[in-house]
Amino acid sequence: MHTEELAQYRCPLCQQALVLNEKSYRCENNHSFDQAKQGYVNLLPVQFKHSKEPGDNKAMVQARRAFLDKGYYQPLLDSMLTLYQQYGDKKAAVFDAGCGEGFYTHQHKTEHNSVYGVDIAKETIKIAAKRYQDCFFNVATLSDLPFADERFGWLYSVYAPILENEFTRILQKNGYLLTVTPADNHLFELKSLIYRQANKHDTAKQVIEDLTLVEEQRLNYPMNFSDSDDVLNLLAMTPFAFKATEELITQLKQQKQFSCQADFVLRLYQKK
Ligand SMILES: C[S@@+](CC[C@H](N)C(=O)[O-])C[C@H]1O[C@@H](n2cnc3c(N)ncnc32)[C@H](O)[C@@H]1O
Ligand SMILES: [Zn+2]
Repeated sequence: MHTEELAQYRCPLCQQALVLNEKSYRCENNHSFDQAKQGYVNLLPVQFKHSKEPGDNKAMVQARRAFLDKGYYQPLLDSMLTLYQQYGDKKAAVFDAGCGEGFYTHQHKTEHNSVYGVDIAKETIKIAAKRYQDCFFNVATLSDLPFADERFGWLYSVYAPILENEFTRILQKNGYLLTVTPADNHLFELKSLIYRQANKHDTAKQVIEDLTLVEEQRLNYPMNFSDSDDVLNLLAMTPFAFKATEELITQLKQQKQFSCQADFVLRLYQKK
């Protein structure tokens, strides 16, 4: 639990600092946001919500947690942590943009830093906050983040939207942004079962105007499945899940072995 440390947020309505008092965050203009029993705070004002349940739904979140817990993306996590160790300021605050159920978020927590995870989906933040009590989680939109300027030294986005202006704003000078996006062959074998002609991912370089690209890595490895539940969870995590027919799902359930590539691009940018 956060015994000494307090989360530092700014009010999404008036941009003044929020102060926690009696489980409620309040700014000097009296806008207030209650802390939920799981410890997170919802800083997404209703007027910023474009749908009733924005972001990933509960079924997707549960599938992702079950899949990630099996360690299939451990090599990705290792690469991310290696970059953090190599470049990151160990005392600066860390921010996981579109953190989902917090798998990567809590892996960045050390005794020296504070780590924040933001997601627009309340269900996912609830699950993250309940499990990883040493990190700060809140519901917000990445396009209007409830943080002061230059608040973070290390910011990353794994398969989540990259909001260049906001990310640059909350990054301190010399701070880093790490983006993880799919490379050409990511899940190619799984996609091939769904689309007659599976398209490869477009890995065109993402240019972020105010940041400097300092390192780019490709990470490709096979994932071998012997439990069909894992494949079905992986499928459920993907944006093409809704294209899968009942026949295909039955086929995957019966298949004893399945192998598929994980293929990622990691790009590290610095604010100079
Ligand atoms: C593919 S998931 C990745 C989750 C996590 N980074 C992971 O890799 O396990 C993308 C996440 O971004 C969130 N998201 C999408 N648009 C968002 C926005 N505008 N603001 C905040 N979160 C957003 C979704 O709710 C979802 O949890
Ligand atoms: Zn306010």
